Amino acid sequence: MAAGNFEKYKSDGSLGGNLMEWFDARFPATSMWKAHLSEYYAPKNFNFWYFFGSLALLVLVIQIVTGIFLTMHYKPDAAINSAGVPAAFASVEYIMRDVPGGWIIRYMHSTGASAFFIVVYLHMFRGLLYGSYRKPRELTWLFGIGIFLVLMGEAFFGYLLPWGQLSYWGAQVIVNMFGAIPFVGNDLSILIRGDYVVSDATLNRFFSFHVIALPLVLVGLVAAHVLALHETGSNNPDGIEIKANKDENGIPRDGIPFHPYYTVKDIVGVVVFLMVFSAVLFFAPEGGGYFLETPNFYPADTLKTPPHIAPVWYFTPYYSILRAMVWNFFGLEAKFWGVIAMGASVVIFAFLPWLDRSPVKSIRYRGPITKVMITLFVICFFILGYLGTLPPSPAGELISQVCSVFYFAFFLGMPWWSRMDKFKPVPDRLTMK
Ligand code: HEM
Repeated sequence: MAAGNFEKYKSDGSLGGNLMEWFDARFPATSMWKAHLSEYYAPKNFNFWYFFGSLALLVLVIQIVTGIFLTMHYKPDAAINSAGVPAAFASVEYIMRDVPGGWIIRYMHSTGASAFFIVVYLHMFRGLLYGSYRKPRELTWLFGIGIFLVLMGEAFFGYLLPWGQLSYWGAQVIVNMFGAIPFVGNDLSILIRGDYVVSDATLNRFFSFHVIALPLVLVGLVAAHVLALHETGSNNPDGIEIKANKDENGIPRDGIPFHPYYTVKDIVGVVVFLMVFSAVLFFAPEGGGYFLETPNFYPADTLKTPPHIAPVWYFTPYYSILRAMVWNFFGLEAKFWGVIAMGASVVIFAFLPWLDRSPVKSIRYRGPITKVMITLFVICFFILGYLGTLPPSPAGELISQVCSVFYFAFFLGMPWWSRMDKFKPVPDRLTMK
Protein backbone atom coordinates (compact mmCIF):
# COMPACT_ATOMS: atom_id res chain seq x y z
CA MET A 1 0.00 0.00 0.00
CA ALA A 2 2.90 2.32 0.81
CA ALA A 3 4.31 1.95 -2.72
CA GLY A 4 0.89 2.75 -4.22
CA ASN A 5 0.60 5.93 -2.22
CA PHE A 6 4.07 7.22 -3.12
CA GLU A 7 3.04 7.11 -6.76
CA LYS A 8 0.83 10.07 -5.91
CA TYR A 9 3.90 12.30 -5.55
CA LYS A 10 4.47 14.47 -8.63
CA SER A 11 7.84 14.46 -10.37
CA ASP A 12 8.78 17.67 -8.51
CA GLY A 13 8.25 15.84 -5.24
CA SER A 14 5.09 17.72 -4.29
CA LEU A 15 1.78 16.01 -3.72
CA GLY A 16 -0.86 16.24 -6.41
CA GLY A 17 -4.60 15.75 -6.14
CA ASN A 18 -6.98 16.67 -3.42
CA LEU A 19 -6.82 16.68 0.35
CA MET A 20 -7.84 13.04 0.58
CA GLU A 21 -4.90 12.00 -1.59
CA TRP A 22 -2.60 14.12 0.55
CA PHE A 23 -3.97 12.36 3.60
CA ASP A 24 -3.80 8.88 2.06
CA ALA A 25 -0.15 9.33 1.16
CA ARG A 26 0.53 9.72 4.87
CA PHE A 27 -2.12 7.56 6.57
CA PRO A 28 -4.01 4.47 5.30
CA ALA A 29 -7.42 6.15 5.67
CA THR A 30 -9.05 5.11 2.38
CA SER A 31 -7.54 1.64 2.39
CA MET A 32 -8.76 1.07 5.96
CA TRP A 33 -12.21 2.37 5.09
CA LYS A 34 -12.33 -0.07 2.18
CA ALA A 35 -10.84 -3.04 4.04
CA HIS A 36 -13.12 -2.70 7.06
CA LEU A 37 -16.28 -1.09 5.69
CA SER A 38 -17.03 -0.42 2.03
CA GLU A 39 -15.23 -3.51 0.68
CA TYR A 40 -15.58 -5.72 3.72
CA TYR A 41 -18.03 -8.37 2.58
CA ALA A 42 -20.33 -9.65 5.29
CA PRO A 43 -22.83 -12.50 4.89
CA LYS A 44 -26.11 -11.16 3.56
CA ASN A 45 -28.31 -13.01 6.08
CA PHE A 46 -27.42 -11.34 9.38
CA ASN A 47 -30.41 -11.33 11.73
CA PHE A 48 -31.41 -9.80 15.07
CA TRP A 49 -28.55 -11.55 16.92
CA TYR A 50 -25.97 -9.65 14.88
CA PHE A 51 -26.96 -6.30 16.41
CA PHE A 52 -25.17 -6.91 19.67
CA GLY A 53 -21.55 -6.49 18.49
CA SER A 54 -22.14 -2.92 17.33
CA LEU A 55 -24.32 -2.29 20.40
CA ALA A 56 -21.46 -3.45 22.63
CA LEU A 57 -19.26 -0.90 20.86
CA LEU A 58 -21.88 1.78 21.47
CA VAL A 59 -22.15 0.97 25.18
CA LEU A 60 -18.36 0.97 25.46
CA VAL A 61 -18.32 4.52 24.08
CA ILE A 62 -21.18 5.57 26.40
CA GLN A 63 -19.29 4.19 29.41
CA ILE A 64 -16.03 5.91 28.47
CA VAL A 65 -17.63 9.29 27.74
CA THR A 66 -19.87 9.34 30.83
CA GLY A 67 -16.94 8.01 32.89
CA ILE A 68 -14.77 10.95 31.82
CA PHE A 69 -17.43 13.42 32.99
CA LEU A 70 -18.01 11.58 36.26
CA THR A 71 -14.27 11.64 36.99
CA MET A 72 -14.36 15.45 36.78
CA HIS A 73 -16.46 15.58 39.96
CA TYR A 74 -15.92 12.27 41.73
CA LYS A 75 -13.41 12.05 44.64
CA PRO A 76 -11.79 8.71 45.52
CA ASP A 77 -11.55 9.56 49.20
CA ALA A 78 -12.78 7.44 52.11
CA ALA A 79 -12.16 10.15 54.74
CA ILE A 80 -15.23 11.34 56.64
CA ASN A 81 -16.10 14.91 55.66
CA SER A 82 -17.45 17.70 57.89
CA ALA A 83 -21.01 16.43 57.34
CA GLY A 84 -20.00 13.02 58.73
CA VAL A 85 -20.20 11.26 55.34
CA PRO A 86 -17.30 9.61 53.43
CA ALA A 87 -16.03 12.09 50.81
CA ALA A 88 -16.37 9.57 47.94
CA PHE A 89 -20.04 8.91 48.77
CA ALA A 90 -20.66 12.65 49.19
CA SER A 91 -19.07 13.40 45.80
CA VAL A 92 -21.51 10.99 44.10
CA GLU A 93 -24.42 12.67 45.90
CA TYR A 94 -23.02 16.02 44.76
CA ILE A 95 -22.97 14.76 41.15
CA MET A 96 -26.57 13.57 41.51
CA ARG A 97 -27.94 16.74 43.11
CA ASP A 98 -25.76 19.72 42.27
CA VAL A 99 -23.73 19.14 39.11
CA PRO A 100 -25.80 20.31 36.09
CA GLY A 101 -26.85 17.16 34.20
CA GLY A 102 -24.86 15.11 36.70
CA TRP A 103 -27.77 12.83 37.52
CA ILE A 104 -28.21 11.70 33.93
CA ILE A 105 -24.49 11.18 33.41
CA ARG A 106 -24.33 9.08 36.56
CA TYR A 107 -27.42 7.05 35.72
CA MET A 108 -26.17 6.53 32.16
CA HIS A 109 -22.98 5.10 33.61
CA SER A 110 -24.56 2.94 36.33
CA THR A 111 -27.40 1.68 34.10
CA GLY A 112 -24.85 1.45 31.25
CA ALA A 113 -22.88 -1.11 33.27
CA SER A 114 -25.90 -3.43 33.39
CA ALA A 115 -26.71 -2.69 29.74
CA PHE A 116 -23.14 -3.65 28.85
CA PHE A 117 -23.53 -7.07 30.44
CA ILE A 118 -26.98 -7.64 28.89
CA VAL A 119 -25.61 -6.80 25.44
CA VAL A 120 -22.44 -8.86 25.91
CA TYR A 121 -24.35 -11.88 27.25
CA LEU A 122 -26.67 -11.77 24.21
CA HIS A 123 -23.63 -11.34 21.95
CA MET A 124 -21.98 -14.42 23.50
CA PHE A 125 -25.22 -16.39 23.29
CA ARG A 126 -25.34 -15.70 19.55
CA GLY A 127 -21.85 -17.27 19.37
CA LEU A 128 -23.24 -20.35 21.08
CA LEU A 129 -26.27 -20.56 18.76
CA TYR A 130 -24.33 -20.31 15.52
CA GLY A 131 -21.01 -21.89 16.54
CA SER A 132 -19.24 -18.57 15.87
CA TYR A 133 -16.37 -19.55 18.18
CA ARG A 134 -15.36 -22.44 15.94
CA LYS A 135 -12.57 -22.65 13.39
CA PRO A 136 -11.43 -20.24 11.95
CA ARG A 137 -12.75 -17.73 14.56
CA GLU A 138 -11.15 -19.17 17.69
CA LEU A 139 -9.02 -16.06 18.24
CA THR A 140 -11.99 -13.72 17.86
CA TRP A 141 -13.66 -15.78 20.58
CA LEU A 142 -10.57 -15.79 22.81
CA PHE A 143 -10.19 -12.02 22.53
CA GLY A 144 -13.89 -11.91 23.42
CA ILE A 145 -13.24 -13.96 26.55
CA GLY A 146 -10.39 -11.58 27.43
CA ILE A 147 -12.86 -8.69 27.02
CA PHE A 148 -15.37 -10.49 29.23
CA LEU A 149 -12.83 -11.02 32.03
CA VAL A 150 -11.62 -7.42 31.88
CA LEU A 151 -15.22 -6.22 31.82
CA MET A 152 -15.90 -8.16 35.00
CA GLY A 153 -12.84 -6.59 36.62
CA GLU A 154 -13.93 -3.18 35.42
CA ALA A 155 -17.42 -3.63 36.92
CA PHE A 156 -16.01 -4.95 40.19
CA PHE A 157 -13.56 -2.05 40.64
CA GLY A 158 -16.17 0.51 39.64
CA TYR A 159 -18.67 -0.82 42.14
CA LEU A 160 -16.45 0.15 45.08
CA LEU A 161 -16.22 3.79 44.01
CA PRO A 162 -19.56 5.18 45.34
CA TRP A 163 -18.42 3.82 48.72
CA GLY A 164 -21.91 2.67 49.70
CA GLN A 165 -22.68 -0.20 52.07
CA LEU A 166 -22.67 -2.87 49.35
CA SER A 167 -19.65 -1.35 47.59
CA TYR A 168 -17.68 -1.72 50.78
CA TRP A 169 -18.92 -5.07 52.03
CA GLY A 170 -19.09 -6.62 48.57
CA ALA A 171 -15.42 -5.75 48.01
CA GLN A 172 -14.60 -7.07 51.48
CA VAL A 173 -16.22 -10.45 50.67
CA ILE A 174 -14.72 -10.80 47.19
CA VAL A 175 -11.19 -9.78 48.19
CA ASN A 176 -11.35 -12.07 51.24
CA MET A 177 -12.08 -14.96 48.88
CA PHE A 178 -8.53 -14.74 47.57
CA GLY A 179 -7.44 -15.49 51.14
CA ALA A 180 -8.70 -19.07 50.59
CA ILE A 181 -5.88 -19.79 48.11
CA PRO A 182 -3.24 -21.90 49.94
CA PHE A 183 0.13 -20.31 50.83
CA VAL A 184 -0.20 -17.02 48.90
CA GLY A 185 -3.86 -16.22 49.61
CA ASN A 186 -3.41 -13.92 52.58
CA ASP A 187 -0.61 -11.91 51.01
CA LEU A 188 -2.55 -11.71 47.78
CA SER A 189 -5.62 -10.19 49.44
CA ILE A 190 -3.43 -7.66 51.28
CA LEU A 191 -1.78 -6.79 47.97
CA ILE A 192 -5.17 -6.25 46.30
CA ARG A 193 -6.51 -4.15 49.18
CA GLY A 194 -3.25 -2.33 49.92
CA ASP A 195 -4.28 -2.73 53.55
CA TYR A 196 -5.56 -5.33 56.02
CA VAL A 197 -9.15 -4.24 55.42
CA VAL A 198 -10.86 -2.44 52.55
CA SER A 199 -9.82 1.18 53.10
CA ASP A 200 -8.86 4.45 51.48
CA ALA A 201 -5.82 2.73 49.91
CA THR A 202 -8.16 0.16 48.32
CA LEU A 203 -10.45 2.89 47.02
CA ASN A 204 -7.52 4.73 45.43
CA ARG A 205 -6.12 1.70 43.64
CA PHE A 206 -9.55 0.52 42.49
CA PHE A 207 -10.17 4.02 41.13
CA SER A 208 -6.93 3.95 39.19
CA PHE A 209 -7.69 0.48 37.77
CA HIS A 210 -11.24 1.50 36.92
CA VAL A 211 -10.53 4.78 35.13
CA ILE A 212 -7.35 4.04 33.26
CA ALA A 213 -5.69 0.61 33.51
CA LEU A 214 -8.60 -1.64 32.57
CA PRO A 215 -10.24 0.72 30.04
CA LEU A 216 -6.94 0.80 28.13
CA VAL A 217 -6.76 -2.99 28.08
CA LEU A 218 -10.44 -3.19 27.15
CA VAL A 219 -10.12 -0.85 24.18
CA GLY A 220 -7.01 -2.73 23.00
CA LEU A 221 -8.79 -6.06 23.26
CA VAL A 222 -11.85 -4.75 21.40
CA ALA A 223 -9.59 -3.56 18.55
CA ALA A 224 -7.90 -6.99 18.45
CA HIS A 225 -11.33 -8.68 18.57
CA VAL A 226 -12.67 -6.78 15.55
CA LEU A 227 -9.39 -7.09 13.60
CA ALA A 228 -9.33 -10.85 14.17
CA LEU A 229 -12.96 -11.06 13.01
CA HIS A 230 -12.23 -9.05 9.87
CA GLU A 231 -9.33 -11.36 9.03
CA THR A 232 -11.59 -14.44 8.90
CA GLY A 233 -14.83 -12.67 8.02
CA SER A 234 -18.05 -13.02 9.98
CA ASN A 235 -19.92 -16.23 10.60
CA ASN A 236 -23.70 -16.12 10.02
CA PRO A 237 -26.95 -17.80 11.11
CA ASP A 238 -26.37 -20.66 8.65
CA GLY A 239 -22.79 -21.27 9.81
CA ILE A 240 -21.64 -21.41 6.16
CA GLU A 241 -18.27 -19.94 5.14
CA ILE A 242 -19.10 -17.35 2.46
CA LYS A 243 -15.44 -17.14 1.45
CA ALA A 244 -15.70 -20.71 0.12
CA ASN A 245 -17.84 -19.46 -2.78
CA LYS A 246 -16.41 -16.41 -4.59
CA ASP A 247 -17.22 -14.89 -7.98
CA GLU A 248 -14.69 -14.17 -10.75
CA ASN A 249 -13.68 -10.89 -9.00
CA GLY A 250 -12.89 -12.71 -5.77
CA ILE A 251 -16.01 -11.35 -4.03
CA PRO A 252 -18.04 -13.81 -1.94
CA ARG A 253 -21.29 -14.55 -3.82
CA ASP A 254 -23.27 -14.41 -0.56
CA GLY A 255 -21.52 -11.31 0.75
CA ILE A 256 -22.64 -7.68 0.77
CA PRO A 257 -20.46 -4.66 1.60
CA PHE A 258 -20.64 -3.83 5.29
CA HIS A 259 -21.09 -0.18 4.35
CA PRO A 260 -23.77 0.89 3.54
CA TYR A 261 -25.83 -2.25 4.16
CA TYR A 262 -24.89 -3.13 7.71
CA THR A 263 -24.03 0.38 8.86
CA VAL A 264 -27.64 1.28 8.08
CA LYS A 265 -29.00 -1.93 9.62
CA ASP A 266 -26.93 -1.35 12.78
CA ILE A 267 -28.38 2.17 13.09
CA VAL A 268 -31.82 0.54 13.42
CA GLY A 269 -30.44 -1.55 16.30
CA VAL A 270 -28.89 1.54 17.87
CA VAL A 271 -32.18 3.47 17.70
CA VAL A 272 -34.18 0.64 19.29
CA PHE A 273 -31.50 0.13 21.93
CA LEU A 274 -31.42 3.84 22.79
CA MET A 275 -35.22 3.87 23.13
CA VAL A 276 -35.16 0.98 25.61
CA PHE A 277 -32.08 2.37 27.38
CA SER A 278 -33.69 5.82 27.75
CA ALA A 279 -36.91 4.27 29.05
CA VAL A 280 -34.96 2.50 31.80
CA LEU A 281 -32.86 5.59 32.44
CA PHE A 282 -35.83 7.92 32.88
CA PHE A 283 -38.36 5.62 34.51
CA ALA A 284 -36.40 2.93 36.39
CA PRO A 285 -32.72 3.87 36.59
CA GLU A 286 -32.19 1.58 39.57
CA GLY A 287 -33.58 -1.35 37.57
CA GLY A 288 -35.87 -2.44 40.41
CA GLY A 289 -32.89 -2.66 42.76
CA TYR A 290 -30.92 -4.89 40.37
CA PHE A 291 -28.84 -2.17 38.67
CA LEU A 292 -28.36 -0.01 41.78
CA GLU A 293 -29.09 -1.85 45.02
CA THR A 294 -30.91 -0.22 47.93
CA PRO A 295 -28.14 -0.76 50.57
CA ASN A 296 -25.78 1.19 48.32
CA PHE A 297 -27.79 4.35 48.92
CA TYR A 298 -26.34 4.25 52.46
CA PRO A 299 -22.73 5.33 52.97
CA ALA A 300 -20.21 2.58 53.79
CA ASP A 301 -20.20 1.81 57.48
CA THR A 302 -17.16 -0.24 58.47
CA LEU A 303 -18.83 -1.24 61.74
CA LYS A 304 -22.18 -2.40 60.36
CA THR A 305 -22.29 -5.46 58.08
CA PRO A 306 -25.47 -5.51 55.96
CA PRO A 307 -27.68 -8.56 56.71
CA HIS A 308 -27.39 -9.82 53.12
CA ILE A 309 -24.43 -9.23 50.82
CA ALA A 310 -24.81 -10.23 47.18
CA PRO A 311 -22.99 -9.05 44.07
CA VAL A 312 -24.74 -7.23 41.21
CA TRP A 313 -26.96 -9.47 39.02
CA TYR A 314 -24.37 -10.05 36.28
CA PHE A 315 -22.07 -11.81 38.74
CA THR A 316 -24.70 -13.83 40.60
CA PRO A 317 -24.64 -17.02 38.44
CA TYR A 318 -20.95 -17.47 39.28
CA TYR A 319 -21.53 -16.42 42.90
CA SER A 320 -24.15 -19.18 43.21
CA ILE A 321 -21.61 -21.69 41.91
CA LEU A 322 -19.18 -20.45 44.58
CA ARG A 323 -21.79 -20.90 47.30
CA ALA A 324 -22.81 -24.33 45.97
CA MET A 325 -19.40 -25.75 46.97
CA VAL A 326 -19.85 -26.77 50.59
CA TRP A 327 -17.47 -29.72 50.81
CA ASN A 328 -13.86 -29.88 51.96
CA PHE A 329 -11.58 -31.99 49.72
CA PHE A 330 -7.93 -32.99 49.97
CA GLY A 331 -7.49 -31.10 53.21
CA LEU A 332 -8.58 -27.83 51.56
CA GLU A 333 -11.63 -25.96 52.79
CA ALA A 334 -14.86 -25.61 50.83
CA LYS A 335 -14.24 -21.88 50.37
CA PHE A 336 -11.13 -22.66 48.31
CA TRP A 337 -13.00 -25.11 46.06
CA GLY A 338 -15.80 -22.57 45.73
CA VAL A 339 -13.34 -19.99 44.41
CA ILE A 340 -11.90 -22.58 42.00
CA ALA A 341 -15.39 -23.57 40.79
CA MET A 342 -16.37 -19.94 40.34
CA GLY A 343 -13.20 -19.14 38.36
CA ALA A 344 -13.65 -22.29 36.27
CA SER A 345 -17.27 -21.42 35.50
CA VAL A 346 -16.11 -18.25 33.74
CA VAL A 347 -12.89 -19.48 32.14
CA ILE A 348 -14.53 -22.62 30.75
CA PHE A 349 -16.17 -20.48 28.02
CA ALA A 350 -12.69 -20.08 26.52
CA PHE A 351 -12.54 -23.80 25.70
CA LEU A 352 -15.75 -23.89 23.65
CA PRO A 353 -13.95 -23.90 20.27
CA TRP A 354 -12.31 -27.19 21.22
CA LEU A 355 -15.14 -28.74 23.20
CA ASP A 356 -17.68 -28.52 20.38
CA ARG A 357 -17.09 -31.49 18.05
CA SER A 358 -20.26 -31.25 16.00
CA PRO A 359 -19.74 -31.52 12.23
CA VAL A 360 -22.18 -28.60 11.86
CA LYS A 361 -21.78 -25.05 13.26
CA SER A 362 -25.23 -23.49 13.38
CA ILE A 363 -28.08 -24.62 15.59
CA ARG A 364 -30.29 -24.43 12.47
CA TYR A 365 -28.79 -27.67 11.21
CA ARG A 366 -28.25 -29.39 14.53
CA GLY A 367 -30.60 -31.85 16.16
CA PRO A 368 -32.68 -32.07 19.34
CA ILE A 369 -29.78 -32.85 21.72
CA THR A 370 -28.09 -29.49 21.04
CA LYS A 371 -31.39 -27.64 21.36
CA VAL A 372 -32.26 -29.34 24.66
CA MET A 373 -28.75 -28.85 26.08
CA ILE A 374 -28.63 -25.14 25.20
CA THR A 375 -32.15 -24.59 26.59
CA LEU A 376 -31.30 -26.36 29.85
CA PHE A 377 -28.05 -24.41 30.09
CA VAL A 378 -29.89 -21.11 29.76
CA ILE A 379 -32.48 -22.18 32.36
CA CYS A 380 -29.70 -23.23 34.79
CA PHE A 381 -27.86 -19.96 34.18
CA PHE A 382 -31.00 -17.97 35.07
CA ILE A 383 -31.76 -20.10 38.13
CA LEU A 384 -28.17 -19.72 39.36
CA GLY A 385 -28.36 -16.00 38.70
CA TYR A 386 -31.59 -15.67 40.66
CA LEU A 387 -30.42 -17.80 43.59
CA GLY A 388 -27.24 -15.72 43.79
CA THR A 389 -29.34 -12.65 44.62
CA LEU A 390 -31.07 -14.41 47.55
CA PRO A 391 -29.77 -15.07 51.07
CA PRO A 392 -28.49 -18.65 51.49
CA SER A 393 -31.13 -21.33 52.27
CA PRO A 394 -31.06 -25.16 52.35
CA ALA A 395 -33.38 -25.42 49.31
CA GLY A 396 -31.41 -22.77 47.41
CA GLU A 397 -28.18 -24.60 48.17
CA LEU A 398 -29.49 -27.89 46.79
CA ILE A 399 -30.92 -26.31 43.64
CA SER A 400 -27.72 -24.37 43.02
CA GLN A 401 -25.72 -27.59 43.40
CA VAL A 402 -27.89 -29.38 40.82
CA CYS A 403 -27.65 -26.41 38.42
CA SER A 404 -23.88 -26.12 38.95
CA VAL A 405 -23.43 -29.80 38.09
CA PHE A 406 -25.44 -29.31 34.91
CA TYR A 407 -23.55 -26.10 34.11
CA PHE A 408 -20.24 -27.95 34.06
CA ALA A 409 -21.74 -31.09 32.45
CA PHE A 410 -22.88 -28.89 29.55
CA PHE A 411 -19.28 -27.91 28.79
CA LEU A 412 -17.39 -31.03 29.82
CA GLY A 413 -19.88 -33.39 28.13
CA MET A 414 -19.94 -31.31 24.94
CA PRO A 415 -17.31 -33.38 23.09
CA TRP A 416 -19.76 -36.30 23.37
CA TRP A 417 -23.23 -34.81 23.13
CA SER A 418 -22.24 -32.49 20.27
CA ARG A 419 -21.22 -35.55 18.21
CA MET A 420 -24.10 -37.80 19.20
CA ASP A 421 -26.74 -35.39 17.87
CA LYS A 422 -28.57 -35.74 14.54
CA PHE A 423 -27.80 -33.23 11.77
CA LYS A 424 -29.62 -31.79 8.82
CA PRO A 425 -27.76 -31.29 5.52
CA VAL A 426 -26.16 -27.83 5.36
CA PRO A 427 -26.93 -25.95 2.09
CA ASP A 428 -24.07 -24.62 -0.08
CA ARG A 429 -25.49 -21.11 -0.21
CA LEU A 430 -26.92 -18.85 2.50
CA THR A 431 -30.64 -18.97 3.19
CA MET A 432 -32.69 -15.82 3.80
CA LYS A 433 -35.08 -16.88 6.55
C1 HEM B 1 -16.83 -4.81 24.65
C2 HEM B 1 -17.28 -5.97 24.27
C3 HEM B 1 -17.37 -6.44 22.84
C4 HEM B 1 -17.42 -5.70 21.70
C5 HEM B 1 -17.39 -4.18 21.57
C6 HEM B 1 -17.54 -6.63 20.60
C7 HEM B 1 -17.62 -6.26 19.28
C8 HEM B 1 -17.90 -7.12 18.24
C9 HEM B 1 -18.28 -6.73 16.91
C10 HEM B 1 -18.44 -5.26 16.44
C11 HEM B 1 -18.50 -7.85 16.19
C12 HEM B 1 -18.99 -7.93 14.74
C13 HEM B 1 -20.50 -7.72 14.72
C14 HEM B 1 -21.26 -8.92 15.24
O1 HEM B 1 -20.95 -10.05 14.81
O2 HEM B 1 -22.18 -8.74 16.07
C15 HEM B 1 -18.20 -8.98 17.03
C16 HEM B 1 -18.26 -10.31 16.66
C17 HEM B 1 -17.98 -11.39 17.49
N1 HEM B 1 -17.76 -11.33 18.86
FE1 HEM B 1 -17.63 -9.65 19.97
N2 HEM B 1 -17.52 -7.91 21.08
C18 HEM B 1 -17.43 -7.84 22.46
C19 HEM B 1 -17.41 -8.91 23.33
C20 HEM B 1 -17.39 -10.24 22.95
C21 HEM B 1 -17.33 -11.36 23.88
C22 HEM B 1 -17.32 -11.22 25.39
C23 HEM B 1 -17.31 -12.50 23.10
C24 HEM B 1 -17.25 -13.93 23.53
C25 HEM B 1 -16.64 -14.39 24.54
C26 HEM B 1 -17.36 -12.11 21.72
C27 HEM B 1 -17.35 -12.98 20.64
C28 HEM B 1 -17.57 -12.61 19.31
C29 HEM B 1 -17.62 -13.54 18.19
C30 HEM B 1 -17.42 -15.06 18.23
C31 HEM B 1 -17.88 -12.77 17.05
C32 HEM B 1 -18.05 -13.28 15.62
C33 HEM B 1 -19.51 -13.60 15.47
C34 HEM B 1 -19.90 -14.12 14.12
O3 HEM B 1 -19.23 -13.84 13.13
O4 HEM B 1 -20.94 -14.85 14.08
N3 HEM B 1 -17.41 -10.74 21.67
N4 HEM B 1 -17.86 -8.51 18.28
